[in-house]
Amino acid sequence: MEFDTLILGAGAAGMMCAAHAGGRVLCVDHARAPGEKIRISGGGRCNFTNLYCDPEAFLSGNPHFCKSALSRYSQWDFIDLVDRHGIAWHEKTLGQLFCDGSAREIIAMLRSLMDAAGAELWLGTEIREVTRRDGMFHATLHREGRTETVRARQLVLATGGKSIPKMGATGLAYDLARHFGLNVTETRPGLVPFTFSDKRFAPLSGVAVPARASAGAGAFEEAVLFTHRGLSGPAMLQISSYWREGEEIVIDLAPDGGLFEALRAARADTGRVKLKTELARHLPQRLVDALPEMVGGSVVGNLGDQSDAALQTLVAQLRDWRLKPAGTEGYRTAEVTLGGVDTDGLSSQTMEARGCAGLYVIGEAVDVTGWLGGYNFQWAWASGMAAARAIKAGAASQSQVG
Ligand code: FDA
Repeated sequence: MEFDTLILGAGAAGMMCAAHAGGRVLCVDHARAPGEKIRISGGGRCNFTNLYCDPEAFLSGNPHFCKSALSRYSQWDFIDLVDRHGIAWHEKTLGQLFCDGSAREIIAMLRSLMDAAGAELWLGTEIREVTRRDGMFHATLHREGRTETVRARQLVLATGGKSIPKMGATGLAYDLARHFGLNVTETRPGLVPFTFSDKRFAPLSGVAVPARASAGAGAFEEAVLFTHRGLSGPAMLQISSYWREGEEIVIDLAPDGGLFEALRAARADTGRVKLKTELARHLPQRLVDALPEMVGGSVVGNLGDQSDAALQTLVAQLRDWRLKPAGTEGYRTAEVTLGGVDTDGLSSQTMEARGCAGLYVIGEAVDVTGWLGGYNFQWAWASGMAAARAIKAGAASQSQVG
């Protein structure tokens, strides 16, 4: 069977590309349904993009690589697409856009675009072998008990990263990229909770607190969530992408900077109130109770008994809480995979491999990883669209020559 374009992976990037590449397109996936990560994302409402989709929100060996695709297919383009399909949405926080209804609406939109473009979708399909001969890609595919060979002029690798193997994530894109001469940078789990060597946070499980957390070059002011196994919540997930094994993380539990003055003012007002009681107006009570054990310092006595120096020391401790995580939850729960197909081998305009004409790599498989908050889907849409446009333009120029 012959197609113009064979797309491996019917996730966010693969479906976007299949819907817009034009010509005879076949998109294959081993899952039983397309876009499974879209379906479960954003608590079932899919945080499909972010209003502030700047290149600074992406990690990559080459921080400039993502700029071209993101500017040529922006968050505004995807919002426009969603609007044209009548999908209602809202901004939750920090520019994060979610469906009002269900993430399934995004999948249905992509499927209807694929249908309108005449793209074929083969699900439950095992990809056994992919080779290149005589300028064509040959894929051995197995489905419904039959093995078939498909030929295509263009091959798009869109099988994503390694996160959540239980959902069908595999390293196929990396293996095939290597096979076709591309480099793959070190991969590791990102947007993932931290674990600790003991169960010190178990008593606080379920407590959430706004904080500023930092690791390496990353610093984020969002919620920290205490769990049975360690620390999670958006602030922790964000900094996990910047953290390296063995490093410290720093948490500022009073990020607005006004706690010392607030405690002094309260002391002047009602010195007989307990320090713990006053602190519980600024932090969750269960956290206040656990502070001496966790952060250090003393919270006994009345507020009126505390000197300026004592209050200052306590606030300083709260603002510079240093911890050494044992590790992370790993690919089992990570939302993304950091690293991937080295951008040095790809064109930033088209996602085509420099050394292998007709081979494209898009989405999470590429060494471009966004922050939490809709950035990763925007990368999937934008990189999928960059490849689709290049494939379409290539076909148009070929037919002109013909
Ligand atoms: P994606 O993983 O979507 O698709 C890859 C496809 O390839 C899958 O359909 C898979 O079955 C298939 N495949 C893999 N190996 C194969 C093989 N060997 N053979 C055949 N098929 C194979 N991002 C965001 O911006 N907003 C959000 O709200 C969320 N929420 C979220 C929640 C959870 C729980 C996770 C795990 C992730 C998110 N993300 C997110 C991240 C987002 O889901 C992710 O970045 C994109 O889905 C990446 O799109 P891709 O198309 O590159 O891969």
